[in-house]
Amino acid sequence: MLAQALCLFYLLTTVIGPAPVTGKRYQATWSSLDSRPLPTWYDEAKFGIFVHWGVFSVPGFGSEWFWWHWQGQNPPDQKCVAYMTQNYPPGFTYPDFAPQFHAQFFDPDNWADIFQASGAKYVVLTSKHHEGFTTWPSSYSWNWNSVDDGPHRDLVGDLGQAIRNRSLHYGLYNSLYEWFNPLYLADKNNKFKTQDFVFKKLLPELTDLVLRYKPELIWSDGDWEAPDTYWNSTEFLAWLYNDSPVKDVVVTNDRWGAGCYCKHGGYYNCADKYSPGELPDHKWEKCQSVDTQSWGYRKNIKLAELMDLPSIVKDLVQTVAMGGNYLLNVGPTSDGMIPTVFEERLRGMGGWLAVNGEAIYASKPWRVQKENATVPVWYTSSSDGSSVYAVFFTKPQSFSFQLYEPLTVQTTTVTLLGTTGPLRWSPLHPAGLVILLPDIPFTTGRAWTLKLDWVQ
Ligand SMILES: *[C@@H]1O[C@H](CO)[C@@H](O)[C@H](O)[C@H]1NC(C)=O
Ligand SMILES: *[C@@H]1O[C@H](CO)[C@@H](O)[C@H](O)[C@H]1NC(C)=O
Ligand SMILES: *[C@@H]1O[C@H](CO)[C@@H](O)[C@H](O)[C@H]1NC(C)=O
Repeated sequence: MLAQALCLFYLLTTVIGPAPVTGKRYQATWSSLDSRPLPTWYDEAKFGIFVHWGVFSVPGFGSEWFWWHWQGQNPPDQKCVAYMTQNYPPGFTYPDFAPQFHAQFFDPDNWADIFQASGAKYVVLTSKHHEGFTTWPSSYSWNWNSVDDGPHRDLVGDLGQAIRNRSLHYGLYNSLYEWFNPLYLADKNNKFKTQDFVFKKLLPELTDLVLRYKPELIWSDGDWEAPDTYWNSTEFLAWLYNDSPVKDVVVTNDRWGAGCYCKHGGYYNCADKYSPGELPDHKWEKCQSVDTQSWGYRKNIKLAELMDLPSIVKDLVQTVAMGGNYLLNVGPTSDGMIPTVFEERLRGMGGWLAVNGEAIYASKPWRVQKENATVPVWYTSSSDGSSVYAVFFTKPQSFSFQLYEPLTVQTTTVTLLGTTGPLRWSPLHPAGLVILLPDIPFTTGRAWTLKLDWVQ
């Protein structure tokens, strides 16, 4: 049977030529895996929501690294030690937080409504952070998952249904390492010459995660202590790209082993919150958190520690102008609520994108990314290049607005998104134009977009 199939394959390939690119199989090498074209939905989406939710949301103190800061690092963080001695009985362990992860107000449809209202096109949820607790019923994480303990609910599955029902793309964050997993610690003790954790826990679990939930994005993390050969990352990715149920749609990032980031994988995250100084030649994503101090929820959060809406809008625009995607993080409470201040930020993003979204979604970087015009502007262009968008964040002092980079022709038209009618303009020499602005409309996002048709 196999021989027959092979014969047929040879016949077909010799008669009609090589298999199309989509049928390409990838080898478990970086050169092969890195040659895979990124599925197109991802670059078009531009804006996603990151959700850090887990047992760390219960103490809600410091950050999602609480357990490590309290009991992992040497010396421990005295603030975390004091927080525990002052508020919890002696002998209280980190796993004792899990039964307090109630998620009693978790309404996946409400979350998905908020994410959709933000204008985001994809959502990435923590399926397992470095603590090792899975937010889905992993049989490789017995008694340390959200169905055996805590909410007694499949959080990954329930949110996924609501996300997909709104035609948003669904991605899952997964930490490769687990701070205190005995199998991992034994491998680490053996200088990663053994791979018991990888073969008995990580890979079966990650494969099961893919088969169950069919994520369109895998946001890998926690890779940095060991090389990709320890994690068997290239073997896993070859399976993901060749034989998994998401082989044609799945997108991955670059955290697949020490030294991998910014070099190998799908798109590049590089470091957390990283932005390149100039236009990169590889797709990338900036992850950023509304709470500048933490990805997970904190009970003692202060308004001054949060990004305000104009700074988030500006960060999104600058990222997209540089060819990046923007993944904006919120940390829900252990009760299952998205703090209202985060919800307000997300709805504000949606309000700004409803007017200015054509400068963002499915856009391409223009030949110039930014210039100091009358005020600083950042450029994007429509995917077919017929429109150029100039976004600015400072209200100009006068009605005459100069751009120096665009090359106009007589038929060039200029509009301000959110207002009607073309604007009057005249050319500057040797390049550029001066535009007569209307009254700048009020926007809570404090950013405005000039759309230029027929410029180069
Ligand atoms: C979302 O759910 C509603 C109600 O169950 C259903 O009518 C609709 O077809 C679903 N949409 C998608 C895209 O799954
Ligand atoms: C892990 O990688 C090694 C070396 O490439 C390979 O022999 C082995 O089959 C892989 N195991 C899994 C489970 O992918
Ligand atoms: C714009 O002006 C700022 C401040 O004067 C300067 O730092 C920056 O390099 C300029 N940017 C460009 C693109 O010319």
